[in-house]
Amino acid sequence: MTGDQLARQLLKDLQGLSRQMALYPTGHPTTGEALSAATQSAEGLAASAGGEVVLSLLTDSFYLDRTLLAHASLESSALLRTMQSRGIESITFVSPVAGADVADLGAFVAGLSADVPAESTVRLNESPYSKSDLESDSSSAKLRSAYSRSLDVLRGAAGALDTDEPIDLSVASWAVEQLVEQTISQPAAALLLSTMKSHDEYTFFHSVNVCILSIALGRMSGLGDDQLKVLAIGALLHDIGKIRVDSSILQFPGRLDQDQWKQIKLHPQEGAASIMAAAAPGQEIAATVAYEHHARFDGSGYPSVTRRERDLHFFSRLVSTTDTYDAITTRRSYRRAETPNRALGVLLKGSGTFYDPDFVRAFIELVGVYPPGSLLMLEGGEVAMVTQTMEAGEIPSFVLVKTADGVLLDDPEPMSGADRIIVDQLIPGQVGVDPAALLEQVGVVVERV
Ligand SMILES: [Fe+2]
Repeated sequence: MTGDQLARQLLKDLQGLSRQMALYPTGHPTTGEALSAATQSAEGLAASAGGEVVLSLLTDSFYLDRTLLAHASLESSALLRTMQSRGIESITFVSPVAGADVADLGAFVAGLSADVPAESTVRLNESPYSKSDLESDSSSAKLRSAYSRSLDVLRGAAGALDTDEPIDLSVASWAVEQLVEQTISQPAAALLLSTMKSHDEYTFFHSVNVCILSIALGRMSGLGDDQLKVLAIGALLHDIGKIRVDSSILQFPGRLDQDQWKQIKLHPQEGAASIMAAAAPGQEIAATVAYEHHARFDGSGYPSVTRRERDLHFFSRLVSTTDTYDAITTRRSYRRAETPNRALGVLLKGSGTFYDPDFVRAFIELVGVYPPGSLLMLEGGEVAMVTQTMEAGEIPSFVLVKTADGVLLDDPEPMSGADRIIVDQLIPGQVGVDPAALLEQVGVVVERV
């Protein structure tokens, strides 16, 4: 595993450990399991880095030594904020990492102890790196921060619905405001970040991606800032009803039976009802979007709509387009991810029947022939990633991510697409790169919306 993967695993294990410790006494068998998992991960990470490694926390991000952990910062943002509220700025792990020291860390993060002993194999706030050693590009950091806060809204909403409490829509408004601002000011970078995927939290990452894509498409369709915020809340919460669907059905690897389908098909109504129960201004439109996002332009889809086709809300027709695009480009337990270009093909095929043709046309114009984050095999065997939106016939702008010899580059190199022939499109799993995590390195600068 790479340092990034080891760090992601460690953060998940530390989150699990501190949750366990907060809930169960120290001697509880599941706490023992959580502790040994976290210790093993910490040792694996420290050993792979030559015996000592520093995990730093700065603004909304984790860093492994000097390297930004883009994916982990979003995946473990709840843990990041808990650690920051406990005054943690960095954690140094020294091999061989002792289980007792990891237990001290877990207890401290869980708020069960006031300190972590110094001189141990797990040390707090002894980083040799200064803030300026770590600070990433500030515009990317703002964008990731808005993404992360939006994920928190969904995690919070899921937690509320789990305990039958109303969703707090005031937090949602604040988060989407940041996302609207960032998506408008740096749309190409936002489109690249929207390729971020998560297997464990599929619905949450999908919802934030749909929110970004909807804001960008809404802007292109001429919506003003206030309308975009309303649209963004609807897009962010469109799938919130899935909280009520059994996760074994959502993750089911095969074809669903009738009963399972029946449950899935309830999520639009469940979502709309939960949003209405939140009793906040503007919730009617968000509830409508949640209710109608699987209803199709020609009256098909679900729930079955009795009104005439054009009666679907403008925002619902827009979100149904972006929802489909993000879903197709994501790997699920029952099918592989498709390339962005192929997802555009699906939208085109359904244009005028399933999807509003005006939005399909505008969406293709927005993301271009090969949307940012697309991975393309070039003649000669190199793999390049598209970093900006481009229209048909335009010279593409690439970064080289994999050489013809199959070597993945740590720092993708800018290259001109002039005279290069695209022979195939690939999905991230085939190449072994995560386009969204390369946001800082590739410097997405072209803005079109
Ligand atoms: Fe849905």
